[in-house]
Amino acid sequence: MPVPRYLSETASGHGARVPARSRVTTDAPELSLNGIWRFRLSPTANVTDDMASPGFDDTSWAPMPVPSHWVLGKNGRFGSPAYTNIRYPFPVDPPHVPDENPTGDYRRTFTVPEAWPREGRTLLRFDGVESMYRVWLNGDEVGVATGSRLVQEFDVTALVRPGGNLIVVRVHQWSPGSYLEDQDQWWLPGIFRDVTLLARPDDGVDDVWLRTGWENGAGWIDPEITASSDAYPVTLRIPELNVERTWRSPADVGRFPVGDAEPWTAETPRLYTVTVHAAGETVTVRTGFRTVEIVGDRFLVNGRRIVFHGMNRHETHPERGRVFDEDHARADLAMMKRFNVNAIRTSHYPPHPRLLDIADELGFWVVLECDLETHGFEAGGWARNPSDDPAWRDAYLDRIERTVERDKNHPSIVMWSLGNEAGTGANLAAMSASVHARDPHRPVHYEGDHTGEYTDVYSRMYASVPETEAIGTDGSSAPLLECTPAQGARQRTKPFLLCEYAHAMGNGPGALDQYEAVVDRLPRLHGGFVWEWRDHGILTRTAEGVPFYGYGGDFGEVIHDGNFVMDGMVLSDGRPTPGLHEFAAVVQPIRFRFDGGTVAMENRRRFADTADLEFSWQIEHDGTRVAGGVFALDAIPAGGTTTMPLPGEHIAAEGETWLSVQAALARDTAWAPAGHVLARAQHDLTAARPEASRPRPADWHDAGGTVALGIGEFEGGRLVRLAGRAVAGPRLELFRAPTDNDRGESTVNEPEHQDSAPGLSNAAEWHGLGLDRLTHRLVSVQEAPGALRTLTRVAPAASLHSVLVESVWTLLDDGRLELRVEVEPSPGWPSVWPRIGVRFDLPDDGGSLPEVEWFGTGPLESYPDSRRAARVGRFTSSLEDLTVDYARPQESGHRSDLRELLFGPVRLTALPDLRGRRPGFTITRHTPQQVADAAHPHELPASRTSYLFIDAAQHGLGSRACGPDVWPDFALRPEARTIRLRFDSPAH
Ligand code: GAL
Repeated sequence: MPVPRYLSETASGHGARVPARSRVTTDAPELSLNGIWRFRLSPTANVTDDMASPGFDDTSWAPMPVPSHWVLGKNGRFGSPAYTNIRYPFPVDPPHVPDENPTGDYRRTFTVPEAWPREGRTLLRFDGVESMYRVWLNGDEVGVATGSRLVQEFDVTALVRPGGNLIVVRVHQWSPGSYLEDQDQWWLPGIFRDVTLLARPDDGVDDVWLRTGWENGAGWIDPEITASSDAYPVTLRIPELNVERTWRSPADVGRFPVGDAEPWTAETPRLYTVTVHAAGETVTVRTGFRTVEIVGDRFLVNGRRIVFHGMNRHETHPERGRVFDEDHARADLAMMKRFNVNAIRTSHYPPHPRLLDIADELGFWVVLECDLETHGFEAGGWARNPSDDPAWRDAYLDRIERTVERDKNHPSIVMWSLGNEAGTGANLAAMSASVHARDPHRPVHYEGDHTGEYTDVYSRMYASVPETEAIGTDGSSAPLLECTPAQGARQRTKPFLLCEYAHAMGNGPGALDQYEAVVDRLPRLHGGFVWEWRDHGILTRTAEGVPFYGYGGDFGEVIHDGNFVMDGMVLSDGRPTPGLHEFAAVVQPIRFRFDGGTVAMENRRRFADTADLEFSWQIEHDGTRVAGGVFALDAIPAGGTTTMPLPGEHIAAEGETWLSVQAALARDTAWAPAGHVLARAQHDLTAARPEASRPRPADWHDAGGTVALGIGEFEGGRLVRLAGRAVAGPRLELFRAPTDNDRGESTVNEPEHQDSAPGLSNAAEWHGLGLDRLTHRLVSVQEAPGALRTLTRVAPAASLHSVLVESVWTLLDDGRLELRVEVEPSPGWPSVWPRIGVRFDLPDDGGSLPEVEWFGTGPLESYPDSRRAARVGRFTSSLEDLTVDYARPQESGHRSDLRELLFGPVRLTALPDLRGRRPGFTITRHTPQQVADAAHPHELPASRTSYLFIDAAQHGLGSRACGPDVWPDFALRPEARTIRLRFDSPAH
């Protein structure tokens, strides 16, 4: 039994396929065929099609929900999900796929209701099937289609019967279409979107396109109505605007003004309900009035330059995969709004159609991307890439047509994107030409058109900050990727955006604020889209039944790309990462500037004033609120600034005084309750007070044995108890569990090196140097009255490099115990260091784990190049919540600029060093070495100890997992550092 011919054809299918049209709400009858079907999986595509006949006995088949992915069923009964990034999981042999091609057969019966019209046509619509499928109705073949995330309708008028019907669908996991769907995500076969039977009246509205605009303060509509002459007269109504237009014939339909309409923008998502009434059908469309245009190198909506503070959004759900869950999707988009996200790139395919309704309603600029990626050809120098092969041209054109036609009515969509990482070639250029011809009102995006032959905007991914700046700078002659000087000059005449940047894998990304700073300064730059919104973890279980979020390799894949699919701003369980908080702070819509006795509040929105916001302030002394109030101010217009005097008179004589200001929602919205903070800033009002220097003890002599100094007890020079509680330390720690970025081998910060071979990752260097396995030699222990001093030489096995650590404990007059640690590396250590810190071990004392309270920055972790969301204050947290469960365990939990930490009976006060730098702290249940060894959170060993790290410094985060390394200013080089701490016990 040979495999069917269509599995070797580049065509997008055959049979009764009908052209794509808009998704609108209709009063024509529809019948959902979602539900439980019967299912059988065959390991190959060489299966007879006897199951298509009505007499076939499917009683031994399994129940299978539609929509779903068969590999996500329970117990792995029907195979497993598989993850690859760039590589095809089958031999590169286009257009052929292996015979080992999991093939799922679906059968169900359904009843066409009595009331189903006898006249007109009946269509069968599939919203998404991965990846190729053949359909039979009542034993007769309907057709074959492909394009996993693209809608397909078939005309089944001749085959459908009143009453009972049998539908059979055969789905092949692999097909020629798979070559065009090499996106970085799970391979998830099945009928994963809705299946619907549609009655199509002959005198209905087969398609409608409400092209709208908003110019010179007024809206317009230019409708395109696809209907037979029987459908006329056709009436369009917008009740809210008292608009009613009737056209007697197709020739009458044309553009008309809608004077009183308010504009639609992502900030002011004003929608109007429009009905289009024909003889046999009324359809309803939610529309908005807005005009997108490119003027010179500016991307404008309604005449104003917009900036994308965007996210790349995949369809992903830990249990459902790419099956759409409207509540989940709406919650995600609401969360985006709460975190100041204003744009979505639908990477890398059209989402479920409802997603765009939600985007219209909540307000996002959407870049709608076609289902196209051929990344796996890159390794072969793009040889045989379908993008430039005439045999694939029709498939490319078919894909973009189905993309544009379905979604063309959405005001949120401001750009069409041809696809992702498909190299370049004539077929992409043809797609672009077809979009331009069909929809001249929306620009065309495709990042792979590096030289700008056929696209309207200049787009790049993961360009470094200097390169982004050079792209945006007039007169810069810095070469652009793959461009001749002339091509570079052409690209610089266009608006620029980063369709991907700030790879959010694990702990990171760093440098978000650096990108924002250049975008803010250079108007050719229109922001970008973080890679990416959500981790794609799939909820699974260990053999022992422990649940966890799986990534590549957790499902027995032959080849896979590990945790590269866990690179979201939101964890698989829906929790926002510190990186998302950082993003929200960096792009916040209000910017505050303190100057002398005033604060200037700038409304960075393009369209909306601040009538929806309440501005308030508060003053804290050492983290405790002492005063606060609301600023009485008029709404600040879009782009405007209002300056207010600062409240004075609250500066404390002792300790620190901080002023905080914020802008919060004054009223509930569809995406957040009143009081939700959108923007904040702080200003240090602390009076400068020099610290008195203290005499240092002089008469040191060698010591040993037991020593007691205030609340500290020492044995052999080592701390063993603080306030009666067992403690060990301080012990030098230079290692951190590598972040995904520390493990990254990719690029460096200079654009000319972007194509160079991968470098050694930081993690590899750190392991090579032995930073994770330091050994210690106590050189001396000395005592003086009220003081204890140790000198330790720390070094890894086989290394000539070392670090000298001097620890001096001094009992102060007020009874507090001071520790000064001097860290002095030997010369010549290569590479950056992860951290310079000391570790204290705090074994459990049998009681329950204490809450941690600190005065410092928080509430979340922060690192040198990601600390805009960190504010100074007093915070409490459970120990567990101090670290983030990144999909792959890694460094987490560092909080910069500690002042005071209360942990159990002990209070620790951190002092700045001579240059005013304060240490950060981390408390975790695991050592960095343990964390580095675990591939998933559940692999971390049970722990009976808490580890407190006080770090004089930490290395930055960067986004080297896929992008630039840590910016030099935030890289930690081996250097001498001082840590000064004081301990006491408020309870004693
Ligand atoms: C890009 C690609 C994305 C994703 C990202 C890395 O090149 O477009 O789909 O793979 O890299 O996570």
